[in-house]
Parts: sequence; C-alpha cells; structure tokens
Amino acid sequence: MTTSYTIEGGNVINTALWERYVPTADNAVDWKAYTSFRGRHNDSLGKRIRMLNLAQLARQTYVPGIFAECGCFRGHSTHIIATMMRLTGRKDPLYVFDSFQGLSPVQPEDLTDDPRASSIQDALRAADRPLFAASLDDVKTNLAEHTNIQYFPGWIPERFADVADETFAFVHIDVDLYAPMRDCLAFFYPRLAKGGMIQIDDYNFIDWPGCNKAVNEFLADNPPTLFVQLPLGGAFLVK
Ligand SMILES: C[S@@+](CC[C@H](N)C(=O)[O-])C[C@H]1O[C@@H](n2cnc3c(N)ncnc32)[C@H](O)[C@@H]1O
Repeated sequence: MTTSYTIEGGNVINTALWERYVPTADNAVDWKAYTSFRGRHNDSLGKRIRMLNLAQLARQTYVPGIFAECGCFRGHSTHIIATMMRLTGRKDPLYVFDSFQGLSPVQPEDLTDDPRASSIQDALRAADRPLFAASLDDVKTNLAEHTNIQYFPGWIPERFADVADETFAFVHIDVDLYAPMRDCLAFFYPRLAKGGMIQIDDYNFIDWPGCNKAVNEFLADNPPTLFVQLPLGGAFLVK
C-alpha cells in the first residue's frame, strides 16, 4: 500500500510505504495476526496502526490477570488479541462482552455538528438500523480456532457483574459511544492489575465525540501512570 500525493508548496508526501516497514515486510507476528482473520473486516491505515499497536500491547502484557474485550463486532480485534495470547503461551481466558446486536442507543454526547464529520454521524442520527451488528454464532465461527474465549452477550454493563471479582491484565474497549465507554472504564480500571493496560479504539475521532468525553472525564479523576494517544486515532493507558 503506497499512496503519494502532492501537498501545498509542491512537496510529495508518501503516506504509507507499508511494505517497507519491518513489522510488515517480514510478515512479523502482529501483521500476520491482522491478515489471518477468517471473517470480513474493514481496512485502513488508521485501523492498521491501532491493530498493530493492540497486538504489540497484548503480547507485551506481563502482569498476571485476565484479558478482556468490550465490543468485538465480527471478531477481528479479538482474533488479534487471542493470537498474541497463544503466541506468548498465555493461559488466561479472554472475556468478550458485546450485545451481538450492534451499538446501543445514541445519546446527545455522541452527536456533533463538526462539518468534518462523516456519514457515520448521519447514521447515528438516523438510528434506523443496527450499526456494527454481528451475531454470536458468526463471531464464534470466525474465532473457532481460539479455545480460551468466553462470551458474555448482553448490553454493557449488564454482564460485568458476572466477573466482578476478577483481576484484569489487558482490556480492549471498542464500543464507540459515550455510555458504554464510561461504564467500561468505571468497571475495568479499578480491577486492572498495576502495570495492566487498556487500549481504547475510538479516541480522537471526530465521528465518535462520546468516546473522548467519557475517557477525558474518567482520566480527570483517575490519572494513570501513562496515557498515549496514537497517531490517526486510538489511545492506550498503563495503570
Ligand atoms: C466498532 S465495533 C467493534 C469492532 C471490533 N473491535 C473490531 O476491531 O473488529 C463496536 C462493537 O461494540 C458493540 N457495542 C456497542 N455498544 C454496546 C453496548 N452498550 N453493549 C454491548 N455491546 C456494545 C457493538 O455490538 C459492536 O460489536
């Protein structure tokens, strides 16, 4: 994937000399996990960066504890996390929380009048069809090779009570909207081991203002050891 274009002043920018990056050129483990998913998935430079970061964090989580994901859609990011757990010999379960019916109801915090917003905002306003809905059966089929996954179908935070006594080492949150994002942080951060990590997929996207609001509100009261904003969207924290 090489894309170049001329910017103001006549300079040419190569946005991605993708095949020349070491993490991809030798088919390294992170990239192999990204490309080996059995289900359908979208693809973009930003998503590649977030998912390669996710893979790296998942395989470099050394503290004890369970892994979890909130928001799996068809299971692409779940596959990447589970693959890293297998590669590193991690025996812990991977808990997956999702409605398996798509996004929950949109609230005013999730809407923006920013003119740079995309058709995603139109879809959120219309709310005439479920967005990002994949059935539990389809997800299980896509992830059949991973035997350590436990599914918790339901609207966040309904099923969190089932795991309230656990300690978590790594959590991926990709639920797009304000309310579930707020609820995920409120539940998982106090149960995250010291040195544990949370990656947040939807941070810094104009189309998902509710995510930034929930995260920023939470961080104001709960400063982590480290909070890193990824280039082109997404962020992670280390407790
Ligand atoms: C963008 S998709 C996740 C994409 C996935 N992480 C990936 O990278 O392939 C968002 C997911 O969040 C789930 N979701 C959103 N709000 C939810 C809620 N309140 N409760 C449960 N699941 C929710 C949707 O069902 C959907 O699967």
